[in-house]
Amino acid sequence: MSGADSRLVLLGNAIVDLVMRVPALPERGGDVVATDTTFVTGGGFNVLAAARRLGLPAVYAGGHGLGAVRGTGVRADLAREGHRDAATPSCEDTDTGFCVALVDDDGERTFATSLGAEARLTGADAAAVLAALRPGDLVQISGYGLAHPAGGPVLAGLIAQLPPDVRVFLDPGPLVSEIPEEVLRVALARCDWLSCNQREGRLMTGLDDAPATAAALAARLGPDTGVLVRADAAGCWLVPPGGEPVHVPGRQVTAVDSNGAGDAHTGAFLALVGGGLDPLDAVRGANAAAAFAVTRRGPATGPTRRELLGFLDGDASAAPALRSVLGAGPVPPGPLGLLG
Ligand SMILES: Nc1ncnc2c1ncn2[C@@H]1O[C@H](COP(=O)(O)OP(=O)(O)O)[C@@H](O)[C@H]1O
Ligand SMILES: [Mg+2]
Repeated sequence: MSGADSRLVLLGNAIVDLVMRVPALPERGGDVVATDTTFVTGGGFNVLAAARRLGLPAVYAGGHGLGAVRGTGVRADLAREGHRDAATPSCEDTDTGFCVALVDDDGERTFATSLGAEARLTGADAAAVLAALRPGDLVQISGYGLAHPAGGPVLAGLIAQLPPDVRVFLDPGPLVSEIPEEVLRVALARCDWLSCNQREGRLMTGLDDAPATAAALAARLGPDTGVLVRADAAGCWLVPPGGEPVHVPGRQVTAVDSNGAGDAHTGAFLALVGGGLDPLDAVRGANAAAAFAVTRRGPATGPTRRELLGFLDGDASAAPALRSVLGAGPVPPGPLGLLG
């Protein structure tokens, strides 16, 4: 499985994050004063940035609105490093959505999301995406898009038509319980990789225990699909396609901002699998990249190859294959652009 021609094609959900640091969540009916507030592009943008910094060409193929602040801001952040022509045109009547993320003193984040253009794929968008895909592409699908009442069924229709020569990575996300059953079924049937955190795994299986969750998901998806259950500081449980659950320990760091940890993990995993690493080494690298990200404040804090190599320095357990992929040269010059 050579990764030479792989690109990450992200089918949506570059969104604006309104991140507020609070001592604790307010009680119902209460209020709390935030100590720090930022309004930044996040969500799928974090995944794209994490993947590209580790060398995987990455393009955005999701919706984007024309609003003066949100849609325009997201587009500017994407275009900063790339071209502007989009397979998915701007949405005329809906702006890009946003997510309020309350990050408490324990570093945990709690969301309230307003879905917008980024999650509302149209039939024309889907046709444009299908026409632009190339063999070897890694297609990332987020539960935010699947949960959208209008866009979810369109996305499911697109997933069902994806050619067999692209690999599909599904992150069902925090809204997994909002995804209509028939839409989720299509995504689960087609995905080559499923990655969720422990809460999302519990919502899908009813199980609390991470390895049992990973095993149950793998049994449901069958031997052609791999499963990742992300487990905060404990790292990740991996079931490689057709394999058994294995614990890939997390790296010990002082976490200052866990918002976007899962996105950093996803982007890094895709870059490393796309670079030809086996799943176990890719998860080791993704755990390290996500641990690096939680030591930094703000969105899109995944490391570059050089930063990740430095972070792994002195870690005897970091596999030679991982070091060799990370040391494989500069990030390719391709843009972090819109799919076109
Ligand atoms: N406190 C932490 N220390 C080290 N690694 C962490 C920490 N929190 C998260 N990670 C890494 O980030 C990954 C994703 O974080 P997690 O919280 O499990 O997902 P999500 O952000 O989706 O809730 C984990 O699998 C782990 O590798
Ligand atoms: Mg978490």
